Amino acid sequence: MRRRGILFLAIFVVLIMVLSLNIKSQNAVAEKAGSDYKGPEYCGSCHSNEYQEWSGTMHSQAFSDPIFQAVWNASGSPPECLSCHTTGFNSETGEFALEGVTCERCHGGPGKMEKTLSASLCGECHIGAHHPTFEEWNQSKHSESIETLIAIGQDKNERCLSCHSAEGALGTMLNKSWSIKEATDPVTCAVCHEPMSLELRMESSSDLCGQCHTGQYSLWSANSPHEIIGVGCSDCHMYTRPYSSEDVPAITGHTFEIVEEGGKPVICQNCHGTVEGIPDYETAVSVMISIQTDIQSIKEEVKAAINSTEKIINEVSTISGVDTSALEEASTLLNDAKHTFEIEVERAYSNGFHNPTEMMKLINTILEKIGKAKELALEAKAKALKSQLSSLETQLAESQDEINNLKIQISNLNEQVSTLEKKVSELQGGAGTSQLYLLISLFSGLVLGALATYLIKRKP
Ligand code: HEC
Ligand code: HEC
Ligand code: HEC
Ligand code: HEC
Ligand code: HEC
Ligand code: HEC
Ligand code: HEC
Ligand code: HEC
Ligand code: HEC
Repeated sequence: MRRRGILFLAIFVVLIMVLSLNIKSQNAVAEKAGSDYKGPEYCGSCHSNEYQEWSGTMHSQAFSDPIFQAVWNASGSPPECLSCHTTGFNSETGEFALEGVTCERCHGGPGKMEKTLSASLCGECHIGAHHPTFEEWNQSKHSESIETLIAIGQDKNERCLSCHSAEGALGTMLNKSWSIKEATDPVTCAVCHEPMSLELRMESSSDLCGQCHTGQYSLWSANSPHEIIGVGCSDCHMYTRPYSSEDVPAITGHTFEIVEEGGKPVICQNCHGTVEGIPDYETAVSVMISIQTDIQSIKEEVKAAINSTEKIINEVSTISGVDTSALEEASTLLNDAKHTFEIEVERAYSNGFHNPTEMMKLINTILEKIGKAKELALEAKAKALKSQLSSLETQLAESQDEINNLKIQISNLNEQVSTLEKKVSELQGGAGTSQLYLLISLFSGLVLGALATYLIKRKP
């Protein structure tokens, strides 16, 4: 009996040992699958800064994160969750190599040291109705910043690429060398987010946007009503909403557009109507709309002024003898004004809302330049016409002299004519006597003839 009891106990103990071993080995299999993964500590042995930065982040804790564990367990620990919350996940076996999003998940796989700035790396996980960050980014203009340059044949222009490409932007921001050849990624995730520490590349999101959006940044930062109280770009341009259902997915703010509902920006409600002592939502929006309508109509006036001044300059340039250096100065001023208008006013799509006061100042300097250009062109026109007038006057005086000369010539001629006439009439007088002579000689001829005939007849 005792022996049997001991045997049963032994079998029980062995069974437990085997079972527990089996459980342990299952765990071991789960963690070792793809055991060629070396783990973040290994990479960190050489890249200690990157390791330090990464260690405290949500990526390093993507599996151990208590919130993840709670939600995951509550939903029955489905293995498909692990494809994004672990490294080296095998969807066929449901096993994974390392907890969390580790170095090797992003750097090309086990032991690899590849580097990419592509958004699709982050988009492997930051995607789907719960966090459609990649889809939103893909819809945003940021994803098209290289295509835009290709479309106008500027994709090899270093200056353009310093904002329009990930490589150029990072090179500029971090003061690192970069090459145009590699500058093929648009404004991707890693431009704004440091991928190891997950911090923004700049302390404030406004300074980050301002790296490239220099026009909007300079308007906003020149004591705009919102900048004064610390409301920055992402407070208005990154409307977020949590996930409700597959049909009403989360919004992460990565289109960076002003999200509207019923034609009104929704995000203003985060403060207006919520915070005491500032305009309520309706007022805030209607003030914004009236600022935008006013500035829109002023913009139309500026455009008209630019067009009419351009016309005047073109017209004046056809006047012969016009002062070309004055016209050149006018053209330079006008082009200057036009350029500022196109870049800083037309492109400041908020229609002045970012900073109405500063926008009006800017428009005024533009109008002053246009005015000066017009003045110069008209002055040049007046000068040219005046000099034409005085040359006409000399021509006129010269013509008068000629007329006078002609008159003298004519009166001379007249004199000559009357002398001639006199001579003619004298000549006419001469003809009368000769006829008389003729008559006389005829008569005397006849008399002589008659006398001769008489004498001949009388002879015999
Ligand atoms: C024995 C030291 C050592 C270990 C271990 C190591 N690296 Fe490196 N790594 C280097 C050196 C050296 C360079 C090249 C110099 C540089 O670019 O800083 C480098 C470069 C890199 C680069 C930049 C590559 C590029 O194209 O610019 C990445 C990314 C990288 N390593 C990731 C990793 C990852 C991930 C691990 C772990 C799997 C790892 N490294 C392990 C030494 C190491
Ligand atoms: C396609 C990749 C992917 C899958 C699959 C996935 N997740 Fe996530 N999960 C993420 C990403 C990316 C975040 C971070 C989102 C953010 O902060 O914008 C996240 C965040 C979370 C968070 C929030 C963590 C916190 O601390 O706030 C929880 C909880 C979570 N996931 C649970 C789950 C569960 C449960 C599943 C499976 C049903 C799952 N996830 C499947 C990618 C994924
Ligand atoms: C979420 C993805 C991700 C994770 C996780 C990650 N990296 Fe990176 N890493 C990147 C990207 C993208 C870059 C390129 C952008 C840059 O240079 O800042 C990069 C750049 C690097 C570089 C090159 C830096 C340089 O100046 O050229 C090193 C080295 C590096 N990572 C090492 C590591 C190590 C070590 C770990 C783990 C402790 C790690 N990374 C984790 C995405 C990641
Ligand atoms: C393998 C999947 C995966 C990849 C690839 C990945 N992430 Fe994540 N990321 C996650 C998960 C999962 C979380 C949330 C972790 C948690 O549960 O706490 C997260 C969290 C983050 C957070 C912090 C979110 C918060 O709420 O504070 C940032 C920022 C982030 N990721 C940016 C990036 C960037 C940038 C890249 C590309 C360079 C990237 N991720 C690549 C899975 C991934
Ligand atoms: C590295 C440079 C860079 C940074 C940083 C940057 N942007 Fe952009 N952004 C661009 C470029 C380039 C475009 C235009 C892309 C195109 O049209 O090809 C753009 C386009 C946009 C647009 C669309 C404009 C339009 O024409 O409709 C918005 C809105 C925007 N960015 C907001 C932001 C905000 C907000 C931030 C800061 C969180 C930011 N951007 C940070 C470069 C940047
Ligand atoms: C200082 C950063 C910066 C530089 C340099 C830059 N861009 Fe941009 N570009 C932007 C930003 C930001 C936007 C989007 C918002 C805006 O229009 O203000 C943009 C938008 C554009 C657009 C689309 C908007 C439109 O007007 O249709 C084009 C086209 C463009 N840029 C071409 C260029 C070219 C060509 C160059 C080089 C000659 C260049 N950019 C240099 C930052 C820059
Ligand atoms: C133009 C800059 C920019 C780009 C490009 C960008 N982000 Fe962001 N992202 C931000 C800013 C700004 C925030 C808000 C941070 C804050 O709340 O202060 C943010 C927030 C986040 C968050 C929420 C976590 C947090 O720190 O609050 C995640 C996750 C994230 N981004 C992932 C991505 C991924 C993935 C991509 C690429 C598909 C991407 N981002 C592209 C600027 C950018
Ligand atoms: C108080 C809110 C607010 C702040 C702060 C703000 N913006 Fe805007 N922004 C707007 C509104 C409203 C528009 C006009 C949107 C429209 O008319 O569709 C706009 C338009 C824009 C546009 C044109 C693209 C578009 O969506 O029409 C860009 C680019 C832009 N803002 C960039 C910035 C940058 C960069 C900063 C920070 C330096 C900033 N904004 C700060 C509210 C804001
Ligand atoms: C993050 C909070 C916040 C957001 C988002 C915000 N505002 Fe404001 N806004 C304020 C505060 C605070 C003031 C008060 C500033 C003061 O009195 O100096 C203000 C002032 C204003 C004013 C009065 C400006 C003046 O000349 O005194 C208007 C108009 C306004 N906001 C419109 C808007 C609109 C439209 C939006 C959305 C596109 C918006 N705001 C988004 C916080 C916000």
